[in-house]
Amino acid sequence: MLILLRGFENILTFVKIVRDPAEIPLDGPRPRALVPTMGFLHEGHIELIRRAVAGSAETVVSIFVNPLQFGAGEDYDTYPRDLERDAALAEEAGADWIFHPDPERMYPPGYATSVRVAGPLTERWEGERRPGHFDGVATVVTKLFGLVRPDRAYFGEKDYQQLQVVRRFTEDLNLGVEIVPVPTIREPDGLARSSRNVYLTPELRPRANVLYRALRAVREAAAGGASPEQARVMGEKVLAEVPEFEPEYLAVVHPETLEPLQEWVPGARGIVAGRFPAVRLIDNMEVWIP
Ligand code: PAF
Repeated sequence: MLILLRGFENILTFVKIVRDPAEIPLDGPRPRALVPTMGFLHEGHIELIRRAVAGSAETVVSIFVNPLQFGAGEDYDTYPRDLERDAALAEEAGADWIFHPDPERMYPPGYATSVRVAGPLTERWEGERRPGHFDGVATVVTKLFGLVRPDRAYFGEKDYQQLQVVRRFTEDLNLGVEIVPVPTIREPDGLARSSRNVYLTPELRPRANVLYRALRAVREAAAGGASPEQARVMGEKVLAEVPEFEPEYLAVVHPETLEPLQEWVPGARGIVAGRFPAVRLIDNMEVWIP
């Protein structure tokens, strides 16, 4: 176990950092909440931690950049990392301790198991563009649940498809963890908070809220009586206003199965993804509220 000492706002603070899975305390107060993260915490993560702290006797934040969920050519090596800053932020938000294992301890020699949610939920949208990504997420989250043994776990709606995948395998495998969704935290101009926003250049940053604006256009069209397809086309028109943005998909989908919708259902979700130079962004929004 590592105790990280650091001066923070003139107060000497310390937070427990457990690196070795064998040292995870299992006898702490209950209910225990887990906030799984890959670090480089931003306001979205802080909101997850605050909610976990408010509803639980003990809150554990995991910080682990999971190699299994990055494909070839993705940003595993360059993914932003800053443990000292993360530890201070997590502690300030009320976390009781941090789990920060090395990849070699999570996946030691001989490791051979993968968790896969089969079918369209993982095969389309992000699954189609990032083959194997959700297997990596499902595997690491299952391991984190097994190691930390939380009663509940907090996930941001920002990664909406991931949230549905986590719900699916948690139920299918009877993992006994309550999955708590937390709404997306946005910048004042609507851009969803993400660790990858650091890749946006100052020139591109003002245009990066185009995903949010497209989703708003879908929602406004829906409120005005448009069909899901008509609303989707309105969103695409907004995306086309920013030539630096290369859209990958904009769809109106069922909130649990993520199947494209021909008719509105309560909670229908707009989902969007695409690339600016040097950064890929995703976003989503509830677009039909009856
Ligand atoms: O959302 C993330 O940051 C990651 O996918 C997660 C859930 C921490 C698993 O590595």
